[in-house]
Order: sequence, then C-alpha cells, then structure tokens
Amino acid sequence: MPTSVTVVEHPLIQHKLTLMRRTEASSSTFRALLKEISHLLAYEVTRDLPLKDVEIETPLTKMMAPMLDGKKLCLVSILRAGNGLLEGILELIPSARVGHIGLYRDPETLEAVEYYYKMPSELDQRLVIAVDPMLATANSSVAAISRLKEGGARNIRFLCLLAAPEGIEAFHRAHPDVPIYTAAVDECLNDHSYIVPGLGDAGDRIYGTR
Ligand code: PRP
Ligand code: URA
Repeated sequence: MPTSVTVVEHPLIQHKLTLMRRTEASSSTFRALLKEISHLLAYEVTRDLPLKDVEIETPLTKMMAPMLDGKKLCLVSILRAGNGLLEGILELIPSARVGHIGLYRDPETLEAVEYYYKMPSELDQRLVIAVDPMLATANSSVAAISRLKEGGARNIRFLCLLAAPEGIEAFHRAHPDVPIYTAAVDECLNDHSYIVPGLGDAGDRIYGTR
C-alpha cells in the first residue's frame, strides 16, 4: 500500500507559506504565520474524525447532536520545530493529549539523534498525529514514527509544512501505512540535505537561533 500524500492547497495556506519562505520574515512573523497555517492544516488532517450523536438541550428543545467519538487523540510534537505546529493545533483541539519526541538531525551523518521521549498512555487506542514542519531526508520523521509504533501506536498520521520528494520516498519505504499531510512538496534536497527552495532551518527561524 503506497503512502497517501495529501497536499493541502488552500489559497490561504499557500499565501501564508510564501510569506514564511521569504528571508526577511522575522521570527515573530514566521511563528505567527506557522500558527495560522497550523489551524488550516489541522482542519484537513482531522476532516474524517468519527462522530457520535449525543443528547443535549438547547434553550428551545432536546436534540441529538454530533460530538467527536473515541478516545482523545494524541498530538506528538517532534522537537523542537514541531512545537511551532503543535501550538495552533492544540488551540483547535484543546482536549487532545500531547506527546513529545526530542530529535535532532546530526549535521554530519544526518541521522536522527533522540534526546527526549514522553507519551500519554494507551497510544494503541488513540489516533496519533505527529507534527514537524520539515520532511527533508525523512530520517527524523521515520525515527519518530518508529518510536511511536514501538510505544504501541497503530493509527498514525504525519503532518508537516514542507516535504521533499526524496523524503516522501524514504518515508514511504519505512512507513507505508502512515499518511502524510503537507502544505507543499518542494523540488529537491541540496548537498546539505536542506529542502530547496524551502524556507531554511525551521527551528532556527521559529526561535531565532543559528
Ligand atoms: C529539522 C526539522 C526536522 C528535521 C527534518 O529539525 O524540524 O525535524 O530537521 O530533516 P530530516 O527529514 O532530514 O530528518 P532539526 O534537526 O534541525 O532540529 P530542531 O527541530 O531542534 O531545530
Ligand atoms: N530541516 C530544516 O529545518 N530545513 C530543511 O530544509 C531541512 C531540514
């Protein structure tokens, strides 16, 4: 089964992404735009969540009305840039549980190095949405999803802002069962495995580090 890739082409997302890519966007502008985009991406990644009818009373009458069904879903931020996406999604789904995986990409080997892992209980019974703005070589996202599977997660989605074709291919080989949601698929990776045209280092741009 091939990985499904959903490119969320909503005009507001595409416009905001263009503003984010520009070198002159400050960290505060970059963060604000990422948060706005995360609301719109959250809308798409949760589009098919199951509902159940519950009885409520309006000021006029009783009615059966839909509410989200099943165990509370789990958002997983791949630190640190994942936090830039997490915040906005959590505003839309405030009851979600939140897990964190700390990973950084070793600049020499490009391998993902784990430094933190904390998850809510009963991952196996939750929809797990892992978030990280960048899918470049996919080393980080593949490692994160593998850890989530080791932790029992069975129903996982991966949400990012930008993906490289090479990363999608590698992700597909490792986790063909995990659908990808992204705002754009860029051209390629450069010699340092940065996404081109891309937006640079997402974590640095969010937090103003270099
Ligand atoms: C960035 C990004 C991804 C990873 C993508 O994180 O947020 O996690 O690189 O690259 P990959 O697909 O080639 O693994 P980084 O390692 O810079 O850490 P940070 O989030 O702490 O800045
Ligand atoms: N990580 C980033 O933050 N940006 C890239 O282009 C590649 C990896």
